[in-house]
Amino acid sequence: MNATKIAPSILAADFANLQRDIEMVNKSQADWFHIDIMDGVFVPNISFGMPVLKAISKHAKKTIDVHLMIVEPDRYIQTFADLGADNLTVHFEACTHLHRTLQAIKAAGMKAGVALNPHTNIQLLEDVIQDIDLVCVMSVNPGFGGQAFIENTYTKVRALKELIISKKANTLIEIDGGVTDKNAKALVEAGADVLVAGSFVFKSKQPIETIANLKEITQK
Ligand code: DX5
Ligand code: ZN
Repeated sequence: MNATKIAPSILAADFANLQRDIEMVNKSQADWFHIDIMDGVFVPNISFGMPVLKAISKHAKKTIDVHLMIVEPDRYIQTFADLGADNLTVHFEACTHLHRTLQAIKAAGMKAGVALNPHTNIQLLEDVIQDIDLVCVMSVNPGFGGQAFIENTYTKVRALKELIISKKANTLIEIDGGVTDKNAKALVEAGADVLVAGSFVFKSKQPIETIANLKEITQK
């Protein structure tokens, strides 16, 4: 089994000290940079866009995991590839032709991810799971950092793990929203491979130690 990956969400960073916070993640035991892009349409909030991601990419030395909370994500696949995204995750609820979108992401040289809102059933991925590199299970309603973790997530993660095994797929399970040291271990036991953590990392006094601690308690 591979070690659980920790992906700090830059949404919770201090944007007036972005380079400092990026260097902190570079130095830490974190595995990925998680980048939340919101359009104010798919979700009620707007985060940041291309110029900010370009600046992040210049300094980030780890995998760039982009989570698109936008409508019509197909329009921006090549743009995000050019901006340095390694993984590009689109929302199931925002894609009419999900299979086509996934192939386009891979054709642009990125890993293809699908995010599911809390109300979206895992079984809807049954016919496409073998084409997905990463499923992002939303453990809050997307749009904002700092929200409370939804407990039903454990049931979803277990169902997703079963689906991945039954289809012999090679898909990572990522959890996004409300992750802390209180739920991290149980999430990994349910089947999670990647934990996104925004507020818990960046609002802590010692983010490097907080990341190291998450890494330690989630060893498989
Ligand atoms: C929510 C975003 C999350 C968010 C997580 O819409 O997708 O990535 O930054 O933040 P926390 O860890 O604070 O819940
Ligand atoms: Zn996210």
